[in-house]
Amino acid sequence: MRRVTIVAWAVTALSVFFFANDSSAEYRGDAFATCSACHLPDGVGVPGAFPPIRNRAATIAGLDGGRDYLITVVTYGLMGTIQVDGVQYFGVMAGNAGSMTPEDIAAVLNYVVFELNDNDATEHEPFTAEEVEKTQAAIAAKSPTAAGELRKALSNKHGDQWP
Ligand code: HEC
Repeated sequence: MRRVTIVAWAVTALSVFFFANDSSAEYRGDAFATCSACHLPDGVGVPGAFPPIRNRAATIAGLDGGRDYLITVVTYGLMGTIQVDGVQYFGVMAGNAGSMTPEDIAAVLNYVVFELNDNDATEHEPFTAEEVEKTQAAIAAKSPTAAGELRKALSNKHGDQWP
């Protein structure tokens, strides 16, 4: 019995070790470490301070313009009054253009959309570094306030579908 426990522990420890060291993984949770300070490790946020992104980010990704919006927020930040589940947020999220590579941003968005999501995610394509670079080059919203304006436009456009 004891030997079984030790073997089970060793297998778990090894898989944690390999997972943690697999820098090529598309769904890297380590990239989310910087986000979890505010949005919490499970992405539920803190009402009134940091909005929840669990499930919501995946819904946003499925709406027209949503993927570009998510890339924009993580790259350039977000500022402005937003409303989520009847709760108002007037916070500032700093951008990560200087500290996260396009690979990091793709990995963190994949983690958010595929792991911090309790719904069916099969409709979503994984984010890639190429997609992130393309959006960064094309998007006009390159500041937290501009991202706030983009959010306003998208939430107006999508109405009840916007989470
Ligand atoms: C210092 C705290 C903080 C950190 C760190 C942070 N955020 Fe945010 N995030 C916020 C705040 C505050 C807002 C809402 C800003 C506002 O009120 O306009 C926000 C908004 C968002 C939104 C938009 C939600 C919506 O409804 O439109 C997404 C997506 C998001 N954050 C993802 C991330 C990801 C991914 C990371 C890590 C790379 C991250 N955040 C790191 C504080 C933070």
